[in-house]
Amino acid sequence: MGAVCSPLSLCRKLIDVDLLIMKRSYESLILLAFLITLLGSCKKDPASPQPNYTYDPISYEITFSDQFPILDIPSDNPTTVAGIKLGRMLYYDAELHPDGLHSCASCHVQTNSFTSDGDVLPHLNLGWSSKFLWDGKIQGTLEDIMLFEVRDFFGTDVSRLQHHTDYPRLFFEAFGEEEITQENAANAMAQFQRTMISDNSKYDQVISQKPGVFLTDAELRGYDIFFTERGDCFHCHGGILFTDNLMHNNGLDAQPIAGYGAITSEPFDMGKFKTPTLRNIALTGPYMHDGRYETLEEVLNFYSEGVHFSETIDPLMKFVHQGGIQLTDIEKTDLLAFLYTLTDTSYIEDKNLSSPF
Ligand code: HEC
Ligand code: HEC
Repeated sequence: MGAVCSPLSLCRKLIDVDLLIMKRSYESLILLAFLITLLGSCKKDPASPQPNYTYDPISYEITFSDQFPILDIPSDNPTTVAGIKLGRMLYYDAELHPDGLHSCASCHVQTNSFTSDGDVLPHLNLGWSSKFLWDGKIQGTLEDIMLFEVRDFFGTDVSRLQHHTDYPRLFFEAFGEEEITQENAANAMAQFQRTMISDNSKYDQVISQKPGVFLTDAELRGYDIFFTERGDCFHCHGGILFTDNLMHNNGLDAQPIAGYGAITSEPFDMGKFKTPTLRNIALTGPYMHDGRYETLEEVLNFYSEGVHFSETIDPLMKFVHQGGIQLTDIEKTDLLAFLYTLTDTSYIEDKNLSSPF
């Protein structure tokens, strides 16, 4: 600047101006540096974690009846206090849905053993399951089904959570990462889901010999029907979990819809669906993959007289030629009485599983 200067005085002036500008820009540089330091020391964005966040996960030991099988937990998603806390919040928070209106719990309602109307599957003891959804579409761990729920079913918008006042901290405390991902949301919910254990029904209390708890005569007769060839229920709904966690066609229709067959493309899988657990069954109506039966009485009438033959009906379904196992009215009442012993009211009242809000 000031290259063309004559007379000399003017040139001098221009040099002064040059110096002044240089001085000013030097000052503003200092000011800028100061501002940057100032900005850096205060919170840049409400969504990024504050320096006082800590990642010090406390591992959580999941406990359950010693009658239950071992619970496999993936080594890359260990259960922690912070993970369960976060998972529980996400389960109940409509922030998880892009519309901000639906939470998991709006369909999976605790008082109904985490189901509600229609074909909604209940949530209990799913930590022991490896096939999820009625048609077994998702196979694997709870982490896999939760990722499906978050990513594909809800289409969770993580930036919604990232800009939330609490979630950046809660995710950091659970996973040690500032960036919120669908994977971590799913992992937290898998941790919470693994703690959703129902093991305190009357039936559980009887088999663990809790003093003063016994099956009534009717319940005992129902037990016999259930666990013997008479009713044959145990072949599919057997074991302590009351499900074999497999896919079967139990003969609901003469022309069944595809079900598991749509997933595997195998003709012999047509009409097969996941065997639902019968734990808390009195709380989870309506029944079957399409909610076709309102009551358990209707279900028992089906197994007794309403079974339909089809190509893929399970060989364990007996007396199909006569529509089923032909239970007498007394036998139906007894079987029903037994099914009621699988109700666990402590589960649906468990404060650790209820809304944290
Ligand atoms: C609009 C109601 C609704 C909402 C909201 C909902 N679900 Fe479901 N959920 C269902 C229905 C219906 C099924 C059964 C669907 C099927 O099998 O095809 C189901 C099935 C499931 C299953 C499979 C259970 C099993 O036994 O295989 C899991 C796990 C699950 N939901 C978790 C979630 C989670 C986690 C959320 C929140 C991200 C959620 N659900 C939100 C209705 C809902
Ligand atoms: C061959 C295996 C098999 C046998 C045997 C069997 N079930 Fe089932 N059960 C299933 C399957 C699979 C379903 C789900 C079918 C569907 O929705 O398409 C089911 C569904 C049910 C349901 C509804 C559950 C729900 O959450 O909607 C009840 C209740 C039930 N069974 C009770 C019984 C009883 C009681 C017996 C014995 C009389 C019995 N089952 C025998 C496989 C079986």
